[in-house]
Amino acid sequence: MSFDFDPLMLKRLAQAKSVVVFTGAGVSQESGIPTFRDALTGLWKNFDPNELATLEAFDRQPEIVWGWYEFRRAQLLQCAPNPAHLAIAQLQALQPNVHVVTQNVDDLHERAGSSDVIHLHGSIFQTRCRNCHAPFEYTQTATSVIDAHRASPPPSCPECGGPIRPGVVWFGEMLPEHEWSRAVEVIEQCDVLLSVGTSSVVYPAAELPFTASENGACVIQINPQTTSLDVVADYNLHGKAGEVLTALVSSI
Ligand code: OAD
Repeated sequence: MSFDFDPLMLKRLAQAKSVVVFTGAGVSQESGIPTFRDALTGLWKNFDPNELATLEAFDRQPEIVWGWYEFRRAQLLQCAPNPAHLAIAQLQALQPNVHVVTQNVDDLHERAGSSDVIHLHGSIFQTRCRNCHAPFEYTQTATSVIDAHRASPPPSCPECGGPIRPGVVWFGEMLPEHEWSRAVEVIEQCDVLLSVGTSSVVYPAAELPFTASENGACVIQINPQTTSLDVVADYNLHGKAGEVLTALVSSI
């Protein structure tokens, strides 16, 4: 697929001293991972976040919530990074100071070769005790692939016996402090921000591209749909992340 990119945009990207690639679920869509809010296929169209993505839900029905994350981890273990993840890793290899800030809880950026990824919403593969917060080494293997969401009791913490929870940020929870301050730092310093595959509706993460714009960065959005960022973005590239990013990185 060929794209007719604005030469000035390409120049700003190629000459940027610091770039942030800010990603959401759309960057993993071409790996076969459902987004959250897309019509029909979005996870939150088919599952109720109040029943699955809050601490209250976990306390009320730990088997249902843990089983859902087992199901999602199993899905992820069957997926591979797609051309969007690979193009972002290639951009990091081509230019100094390219930081990846993601809302995704999968590890597809790392599996594509990206380094030092800032995870604002945690990781689905890192688990910890719900009560004493001790990290818990939990390995789900591809052989434990689950086709559908089934209830499954969480393991117990060897330290205090509490239930083990996924290391993701649930609705109503604070973002991890260290990751958030690192994200703000790189966002405030960048001259180009690429916002890729996010609906820009979940705060505080969604405010970061707006912060970059207020600080004078050139904002380039890649998304097949329009979002609230369209009015602020200097460039809106409407298309799939894998196609647009592959073409973009090979053009600079
Ligand atoms: P959403 O599901 O809200 O938005 C996904 C975006 O990706 C939409 O704007 C789509 O148009 C776009 N999209 C779909 N396919 C794409 C493709 N192939 N290429 C590029 N873009 C594509 O997901 P997020 O914005 O990531 O929170 O959602 C933010 C947070 O809400 C998530 O991190 C999650 C969720 O609740 C937690 O897990 C804490």
